[in-house]
Amino acid sequence: MKELGIGYAHGKIILMGEHAVVHGLPAISLPFYGAYVKTTVTSTHDQSTIHSSYYDGLLSDVPQELKGIAILIETTLNYINKQDQAIHVDIESTLPANRGLGSSAAVSVSVVRGVISAFKVELSEDELIELVNVAENIHHLNPSGLDVNTVIADLPLYFRRDKEKRHLPLKLKGYLVVADTGELGSTREAVADFAQTLHNNTDMIARMNRIGVLTEETLTSLYIGDMSQVGKAMLETHAILRDFSVSNDTLDRFVDTAMQYGALGAKLTGSGQGGCMIALASDEKSAEHIALRLRESGAHQTWYYNLEGQQ
Ligand code: MEV
Repeated sequence: MKELGIGYAHGKIILMGEHAVVHGLPAISLPFYGAYVKTTVTSTHDQSTIHSSYYDGLLSDVPQELKGIAILIETTLNYINKQDQAIHVDIESTLPANRGLGSSAAVSVSVVRGVISAFKVELSEDELIELVNVAENIHHLNPSGLDVNTVIADLPLYFRRDKEKRHLPLKLKGYLVVADTGELGSTREAVADFAQTLHNNTDMIARMNRIGVLTEETLTSLYIGDMSQVGKAMLETHAILRDFSVSNDTLDRFVDTAMQYGALGAKLTGSGQGGCMIALASDEKSAEHIALRLRESGAHQTWYYNLEGQQ
């Protein structure tokens, strides 16, 4: 193989409905273009190799963190009938890992895209998702599919596990601020903790169902452009997620800081227990100010962007 293959994937932001989505309730997510993953595939002799920030060496010897990716590469090569080809896979990422921004799904998507582009093969969206799920199932055990579907989406997404996937051609108003706590979250553990808190607890089941109601209301608010209502729903959702022990002190502090400096709403995004917080701001000046205050308050990195540019 002489050809070079390159695959990209952007990140994802869950606006509403994380965790509840695992249990069948709706979620609304957004593509996140602030950071991305790029995979370059070249030919090699002998045995396949991989280079990433975690590891540089033979594909057959990858450490535990990369097992899912190694299996994904083999599965993809098998799927396109190139199992006998030795390749070198180089993964570069500006998406911080384990921060709720979809890094693991984005790495998988960019790897599959890189491999298929190297062999000039095209896959349907369903085939891509099915392949990526090989790695997601290894990393997360019980993924809802929201992450993968969002990192391949170019529009906001309304998603219900195994039921509905609707791209939303919305002209969203306002700015979104994203702040990285710098603390690593584990989706696997957070999803398990959420499920444990939920188990046979009617009060917590009702709290989770409230997230579902808030997500549906948010969809309406987005359609009518009522961003202050979206902000209120985000804030209430954060309080519920905190009751499920999937927030932490830093995320709570960031939410307070964002609200103190004029955000319309704020919440954790993704699986939580670390990772990132998002805040909704009415305009660019407000977003810039909130981002600055969050950095002063300890955020490792912040991004903000106009939601209108989303589509
Ligand atoms: C993780 O980004 C989102 C969760 O809802 C898990 C999932 O949907 O699989 C916490």
